[in-house]
Amino acid sequence: MLDRYKNIIDNELEKYCKELPKLTIYKPIKYILQLGGKRFRPSLTLLATDLFCGDPLRSIKESIAIELFHNFTLIHDDIMDQAPLRRNHPSVHQKWDVNQAILSGDLLYSLVNKLLASSPCQTIEIHQLFQQTAIEVCEGQSLDIEFEKKEDISLNEYVKMIQLKTSVLVACSLKIGAIIGGARLKDANLLYDFGLNLGTAFQIHDDILDIYPEKEGFGKQIGGDIIEKKKTILLIELLKNSSQEDHKSIQNILEDSRLENNFKVAKIKSYYKKYRVLDIAEKTKKIYFDKAISSIAKINISNEKKLLLKEFAMTLMSREF
Ligand code: IPE
Ligand code: IPE
Ligand code: MG
Ligand code: MG
Ligand code: MG
Repeated sequence: MLDRYKNIIDNELEKYCKELPKLTIYKPIKYILQLGGKRFRPSLTLLATDLFCGDPLRSIKESIAIELFHNFTLIHDDIMDQAPLRRNHPSVHQKWDVNQAILSGDLLYSLVNKLLASSPCQTIEIHQLFQQTAIEVCEGQSLDIEFEKKEDISLNEYVKMIQLKTSVLVACSLKIGAIIGGARLKDANLLYDFGLNLGTAFQIHDDILDIYPEKEGFGKQIGGDIIEKKKTILLIELLKNSSQEDHKSIQNILEDSRLENNFKVAKIKSYYKKYRVLDIAEKTKKIYFDKAISSIAKINISNEKKLLLKEFAMTLMSREF
């Protein structure tokens, strides 16, 4: 069932790429789209539409637009995070250069808006929700960068930041799908809440995978968040719980640009172990996952359909990449 949505998206994206002009600036766009990805955001859009009208394809344009938008954020995110790898291949700025990556990202965002404006289902409500989401993702990404240089970030500030950079897009994917499927506003909003909490659990899981990948070749540079001093939940909890002496060493390791990256990552990882921060992160992740699951119960759909949402959430959280 869930693979079915992913296959629809993959086919549609392939067609979309084939129709793009041959100009050089489209090459990075085709490249990143063809590297694959889980496609879970557009799948959620189709699923949400399907839940209310039984025809997932009604929101196909919006779902593709959402996946394109996500890929645009990845191109720029990799520049900001100095990430060499994406989906197990060189990131766009690495394969081309930073200028091409900026420009192809900008172009991709314009393609998103063009696609949304060509949809037979478009409404002002959908445009407003989408643009508000795009604004919030930028706000979240800006906080993410700001936090690299700040020492004292609370868990609340962290949650707010990841909700902006990651969760709102997951929530928006669902709500747009629900609106197109003809859901009542109350149900569309419940799906938004489900997506917000699921997206939050998803980003916590992403922070964990950065340093505890579950398999070889997980597709990104291991420990990239430590190298970039990202205030992930792991680092926040480590800085909060470590002894004064360890706290100082941790700060020195993070700040020391002469240290070899692998050494730096291994050192911080050993502190993670000492202070058992993985347990804290897993517990927090579970709180948001459970919140997501509990909002499903209130949606006005059959139990069978509720199960589909639950199954989707569970599959997503067991991801290895
Ligand atoms: C990566 O998103 C960016 C985050 C918000 C963590 P995904 O993990 O969905 O990336 P792909 O699309 O499957 O590669
Ligand atoms: C990404 O967060 C959020 C967005 C792309 C908006 P991360 O920086 O943690 O994502 P990855 O780990 O690079 O995929
Ligand atoms: Mg990143
Ligand atoms: Mg980032
Ligand atoms: Mg990450």
